[in-house]
Amino acid sequence: MLTLTDISKTFYAGTPNEVRALQGVNLKIEQGSFVVVIGTNGSGKSTLLNAVAGAFFVDEGRIELADHDVTRWPEHRRAVHIGRVFQNPFTGTAPNLSIAENLALAERRGQFRGLGWALKRRSIDELREKVKEMGLGMEDRLNNPIGSLSGGQRQSLTLLMAGLRRPDLLLLDEHTAALDPKSADQVIRLTENMIAKNKLTTMMVTHSMQQAASLGDRLIMMVRGQIMFDFQGPAKARLTPESILHKFEEVRRLERLDKPAAEQLRRVYV
Ligand SMILES: Nc1ncnc2c1ncn2[C@@H]1O[C@H](COP(=O)(O)OP(=O)(O)O)[C@@H](O)[C@H]1O
Ligand SMILES: [Mg+2]
Repeated sequence: MLTLTDISKTFYAGTPNEVRALQGVNLKIEQGSFVVVIGTNGSGKSTLLNAVAGAFFVDEGRIELADHDVTRWPEHRRAVHIGRVFQNPFTGTAPNLSIAENLALAERRGQFRGLGWALKRRSIDELREKVKEMGLGMEDRLNNPIGSLSGGQRQSLTLLMAGLRRPDLLLLDEHTAALDPKSADQVIRLTENMIAKNKLTTMMVTHSMQQAASLGDRLIMMVRGQIMFDFQGPAKARLTPESILHKFEEVRRLERLDKPAAEQLRRVYV
């Protein structure tokens, strides 16, 4: 479904600010798999998802998605196959358009029909049904501007929009991190239901150890632009929030050990 072969990305290459955000990442995700991605700040989680979505081209390596080599495809072309939800509830929806109009746009996205999205009666009824299924009481407010909704409601709708066309791949980047705990729980429940119901192949970045332990069938941990741990099957099922935290501590210990070594090297070579 998704195959990443030796992908690398360096920002500000050759300058003092150089960041090697992805360093030879290999990852193969089977159809229907739900992969949770964790890692410390700046470890390359968002860069990994952005590389797949085509926010930039990778410097090296190959990206295959749904039987296509998409390595050199621009972002809009990959968007036909990909649904995305970001951390910020204000990303991904048009605030001045109504809920219905936003959903209609999402449904048409990637089909290159321009903005001729005047809603037909039938599709309004279908959309209302889908919104009703979310159980957030928004089905009677389809004509309200999306800007009038709370962050949680907005993320729920963005999620619905991202999954509406059953994308080959769903990318979620800390999509509950900006929400209050109750809304976050609600959006997570919706996420689980939608992925299970539509058997969506998913990559979900999270900071929550609870989510990392309870969601998905695979967990990868990024460290410095590389995949450090990869738990699947029974090994994933056995993970608890505590055992994942323990892995983080292990990594921190290694990083601490690394720093003086790196310092020493710098002194030798500079
Ligand atoms: N578009 C970009 N331009 C420059 N640097 C970037 C860009 N995106 C990410 N980075 C850098 O790459 C590193 C990894 O970032 P990111 O993937 O956002 O980390 P994470 O999502 O794991 O917190 C960071 O040092 C970050 O500053
Ligand atoms: Mg990030």
